Amino acid sequence: MHSRKRILVTGGAGFLGSHLCERLLNEGQDVLCVDNFFTGTKDNLIHLLANPHFEVMRHDVTFPLYVEVDEIYNLACPASPIHYQYDPVQTTKTSVHGAINMLGLAKRVQAKILQASTSEVYGDPEIHPQPESYWGRVNPIGIRSCYDEGKRCAETLFFDYHRQHQLRIKVARIFNTYGPRMHPNDGRVVSNFILQALRNEPITVFGDGTQTRSFCYVDDLIEGFIRLMNTENEFIGPINLGNPGEFTILELAEKIVEMTESKSTIDLRPLPSDDPRQRKPDITLAGEKLKWKPEINLEKGLTKTIKYFADLQKK
Ligand SMILES: NC(=O)c1ccc[n+]([C@@H]2O[C@H](COP(=O)([O-])OP(=O)(O)OC[C@H]3O[C@@H](n4cnc5c(N)ncnc54)[C@H](O)[C@@H]3O)[C@@H](O)[C@H]2O)c1
Repeated sequence: MHSRKRILVTGGAGFLGSHLCERLLNEGQDVLCVDNFFTGTKDNLIHLLANPHFEVMRHDVTFPLYVEVDEIYNLACPASPIHYQYDPVQTTKTSVHGAINMLGLAKRVQAKILQASTSEVYGDPEIHPQPESYWGRVNPIGIRSCYDEGKRCAETLFFDYHRQHQLRIKVARIFNTYGPRMHPNDGRVVSNFILQALRNEPITVFGDGTQTRSFCYVDDLIEGFIRLMNTENEFIGPINLGNPGEFTILELAEKIVEMTESKSTIDLRPLPSDDPRQRKPDITLAGEKLKWKPEINLEKGLTKTIKYFADLQKK
């Protein structure tokens, strides 16, 4: 008989979290979603609520949590600059106190724990593409630091809990991921461009648009999460998960205008501070350890994402 695991997903009502909960339920697991609904919504989970193996708990991870679980995916943290800069102190607390509380929980119940870290730990990188061995170039006192340094400190805590308490940890460094259920108004580039294109409004490009980004479709990322959680205990990461296909921001804007048959023009604006010029994952390690690589190309992923936002607008 299939034995159900009890799996905690913090930040489970958010973009990535809701896809992860869905995937885990489809695999027959028992899922507890914990979220304070800062950026996540119940709408993201509405289709899962009737499942008796799914529970949702309103809780802020900056406070301790006492539950019995076998595995923890720690995703709680606002991910877009607009949201994480809204209350920067709370952002750092969510990453740091959240990590301490979830690691403490993992220690008490001997659960395996995965951290959703980020390519932002590499800051504005001098190495391109970024391998996991690169230590990063991060401004400790800038407006993005609450997120970047919070995530770096969380990684430190994960590794120290592993060294000090032999906790089974997994650290994933996620690069730009997109797909249905991204927050519509958080200024992230893919959702922003799609909404502007659907409304025939000018597409706002910061800088001259030659800065590059790589975009990973959500289903590919979730597959990477699951494979990482299932690796042998000795493998702890950090491991890059992302799509190395590189596009300039201008190329992305033009592609979205074309795919939505939009009348939008492109509006160049000044670049915000600390915006990295280039970001691209080196996913050699994920290929070796997880036998993983992204399968969904930009065109296919954008088609699904555009459909989601077009439907959302009709509601
Ligand atoms: N989407 C990406 O491209 C990307 C890239 C790198 C890293 N990540 C990381 O992945 C995770 C999920 O990102 P996402 O894109 O789904 O963002 P999201 O904002 O949609 O999801 C984050 C979730 O965490 C919840 N949350 C925030 N603070 C909380 C707190 N104190 N207590 C409990 N819940 C809290 C929010 O309500 C939301 O549901 C984040 O940790 C983010 O840093 C995402």
